[in-house]
Amino acid sequence: MSTQQSVIAVLSGKGGVGKTTISAGLGCVYAALGLKVLIIDMDMGLRNLDLQFQVQGDILFDLSHVLDGYLPLSEAIISVPQHPNLSILASSLQKNFSSIDPEQIKTMMNHATDLFDIVILDAPAGADPLLLEIVHYCDAALLVSHPYLPSLRSVDKLLGMLSKNLPKYWVINRMPTTILSTQQKNYLKDVDFPLCGSVPEIPDLLAYQAENQPLSHKGFFKALYPIALVLINQKQTQDEQISLDDDKEIAKIPQAKSHKKWKDFIANFALW
Ligand SMILES: Nc1ncnc2c1ncn2[C@@H]1O[C@H](COP(=O)(O)OP(=O)(O)O)[C@@H](O)[C@H]1O
Ligand SMILES: [Mg+2]
Repeated sequence: MSTQQSVIAVLSGKGGVGKTTISAGLGCVYAALGLKVLIIDMDMGLRNLDLQFQVQGDILFDLSHVLDGYLPLSEAIISVPQHPNLSILASSLQKNFSSIDPEQIKTMMNHATDLFDIVILDAPAGADPLLLEIVHYCDAALLVSHPYLPSLRSVDKLLGMLSKNLPKYWVINRMPTTILSTQQKNYLKDVDFPLCGSVPEIPDLLAYQAENQPLSHKGFFKALYPIALVLINQKQTQDEQISLDDDKEIAKIPQAKSHKKWKDFIANFALW
């Protein structure tokens, strides 16, 4: 699989909406598709991407060491044992996000795109001017929200702050299985922004995390697979609903057609 768009920033107006969870899940999907993936935890001081993959004990170096030129990116990253092709770079617990030099980020991102097919930036919440500058070096932005008004409004606001030329996508996380209120539905309709998918509320996600299987949830992967394709332009719109239970439907996904490993992809995740 080849892709032009390789650096994806995962953003949100508000914190705690699922950026890290979704960054980790997307990373697993791309890695399972055979792409070399790096996820960078940019949430300075609030490091937690490592926990998604249970590699917290392997961290010797972090983002600050790379940015400060203490050692090359390739020596600071951690491979994720359960997911060949997937590596992460831990965030710094000490360095302050606003103290980062954008030039250092640019240099690091150039190295990252030399080494990896897909680079996912798991960003801090909000619209720090430095973050907005960094996002402009990216190929796509994925904005994450909950389906509730404060979160939706913050997506709207963030959207207005991003460059017009940057491809922007929006995903609703923790979509309830219960029916949304009329007010919520109206608001969702009003957001003039391409929704590229939704991820359901997964009540037992924490239990999966506790069992070292955080990303093995069937519903989670079913939701993320089409989103992952949209983000790298493998499928332009999400108009058609694809049933991932149906092999014929799956064959309609351009990537799945040429990629006979769909069953292997599913088999990789024991709980499918
Ligand atoms: N779809 C989901 N269903 C259930 N819990 C979720 C879902 N997405 C995220 N969470 C939980 O929400 C919390 C915050 O998620 P996280 O990814 O850390 O958010 P952020 O990176 O935006 O701060 C975590 O405890 C995570 O397990
Ligand atoms: Mg996070």
